[in-house]
Amino acid sequence: MVDKHYSPEWIADKVAGMMPSDFSGRVFDPAAGEGALLHGVKRRFGDRVDAFATDIECATIRSLKLAEKDWHVGKIDVLNLRSRRSSIVWNDLRRLEVGAIVTNPPFSYRGGNGHEVDFAGFSGRVSPAAAFIAILLKDFPNVGGIFAILPAGTFSSQKDENLWAVIGAAFDVEVIEKLPPRSFASAAARTVLVRMRPSTVTANPTGAVVSLPAFRGPNNECVCVDIVRGNVPMHSRGDASTTSGVVLLHTTNLRDGKVVLAAQNLLPKDLAVEGPLILFPRVGLPGNGKIVAYVGDPVDLSDCVYGIRPRQQEAVPLLQAFLLGSRHGLAGRYGGTGAPYLTVRSLISFLFENGWNPVQVPISGATSNICTCSLSGRVHA
Ligand SMILES: C[S@@+](CC[C@H](N)C(=O)[O-])C[C@H]1O[C@@H](n2cnc3c(N)ncnc32)[C@H](O)[C@@H]1O
Repeated sequence: MVDKHYSPEWIADKVAGMMPSDFSGRVFDPAAGEGALLHGVKRRFGDRVDAFATDIECATIRSLKLAEKDWHVGKIDVLNLRSRRSSIVWNDLRRLEVGAIVTNPPFSYRGGNGHEVDFAGFSGRVSPAAAFIAILLKDFPNVGGIFAILPAGTFSSQKDENLWAVIGAAFDVEVIEKLPPRSFASAAARTVLVRMRPSTVTANPTGAVVSLPAFRGPNNECVCVDIVRGNVPMHSRGDASTTSGVVLLHTTNLRDGKVVLAAQNLLPKDLAVEGPLILFPRVGLPGNGKIVAYVGDPVDLSDCVYGIRPRQQEAVPLLQAFLLGSRHGLAGRYGGTGAPYLTVRSLISFLFENGWNPVQVPISGATSNICTCSLSGRVHA
């Protein structure tokens, strides 16, 4: 039984409540169902909003059209490119200005493997809810805000985390409220109310978008910082009999501001990361002696460690000094109910807000050229 406090109307009012009080304009629910969220928006803003609704189900669309004569209603499968291309409502909205999107996207995996998404340099399979958000942000980049009900697990799932990291570089993503379990009769997953708005950017007098003060490199250039998230689980470390390979580096090897390696932990070379790197814990707080510059041979990073490196080697000491100086602020970004951990998304936000231009890169292989210099509107001098 759904608690009476968590009726669809109560939840819709909560979603509408995340929108700015002076809102007016077009509001779109791409998976509108019976239109509960848009009704919540209408209850709050009345005639100040023009409602747009789509859904995958023909029967749902038929009854919405009958019930809501003033709304713009159409059929779409948001996760299908061909369907998006042929949707009149979707394409009308792409031409017009959309003030807000409210959404309670599908959570479940039919077929189980996730949806392929390309978004701002990210490419991979993610959950349907995360795919929905990426598609909306990609097709409606100028939307004033997305106000969503999402499965809480999307932010910590390995599948979605990297996508959220990329989204977090250009949008402020805030979890406004955790809803109790079983708030929805149809979904057992824990859910959260999430607000996404373009990151704090202002227009300068020339009309170009400028962002928060950017760290500038030695030649006054925008500095990209590569983030490498270690991915070797500690239980797979090598044994003492291994004689060749690369040393595994774990948080216990970061001691008193130095890297103290244990030579017996040798692992295959294919996951090796090249320095120079600034290393610090992903799991466990970044105490003073745990933020360490490393310039030695390539190492494998345990999944409890981050390695970050500015693309300009000259900026390594500056980046380390910055992290040491702001370690309390960094520690504040760690979350979790057990051992504190730092998500890639939180690390990206932290670096970005402090003027760096972070981008997550794969453990090995070619470094991506994309960094938030371009995503944020910060440009090379
Ligand atoms: C959880 S309901 C949300 C309904 C609505 N937002 C509300 O609060 O009443 C999800 C809705 O998404 C629709 N849906 C599922 N997959 C979809 C897709 N790929 N594209 C568009 N709509 C979809 C379903 O038909 C259903 O009506």
